[in-house]
Amino acid sequence: MEEGRKGGWQRLARTAMMVLPCLCALACASCGPHMTQQPSVQPYDRKLPPMPASTVPTTGGIRALTIQQSKLTTNPLPATSLNIRNGEIYYGYYCLMCHGAKGDGDGAVGESFVPKPTDLASSRVTGLTDGRLYYAMLNGVGHSPVLEETVAPDQRWLLVLYVRTFAERRAR
Ligand code: HEC
Repeated sequence: MEEGRKGGWQRLARTAMMVLPCLCALACASCGPHMTQQPSVQPYDRKLPPMPASTVPTTGGIRALTIQQSKLTTNPLPATSLNIRNGEIYYGYYCLMCHGAKGDGDGAVGESFVPKPTDLASSRVTGLTDGRLYYAMLNGVGHSPVLEETVAPDQRWLLVLYVRTFAERRAR
């Protein structure tokens, strides 16, 4: 009986010796310096310095399509072979996977679409003015807005030039 009680005290003392350092560590952690309490600039703490009046961005940014561009009836770029070749390169970047090499909607990704991507030699496309085609190819039916944001402005009219070649080639 006496033995048992002694053993109990010893166990209690041992447990206390293990637990006490942990409690001390916890106590220290909660009263020590906090990362949230340090000299730092918080959002809206400080006013931005005023920009010089002539400041404009020189790179980047997303220029959304404008309705004005869609109203242009002709492509501002001439259909030179260099422009068409460049258009073909960009077509390979942005369109080929869906609309296919012949523009008929047979691209590997296009196959999963119902309905399939528009045949770019069809009357639905040839019937569009250049401006409407410009708008439709980036913002039209079947396209997520991301396409409009991905294709750089200086590549867009080149793409229109290249898309026109599908109908011409099929007519031959
Ligand atoms: C992710 C696949 C995909 C990509 C990439 C894609 N298209 Fe399309 N496109 C479609 C689908 C789907 C349709 C709509 C088919 C339908 O609903 O009849 C479509 C429709 C069109 C139309 C007709 C739009 C309208 O309003 O009538 C044109 C023009 C066109 N695409 C051109 C392009 C060109 C040029 C590119 C590259 C800059 C391109 N597409 C990239 C899938 C794609």
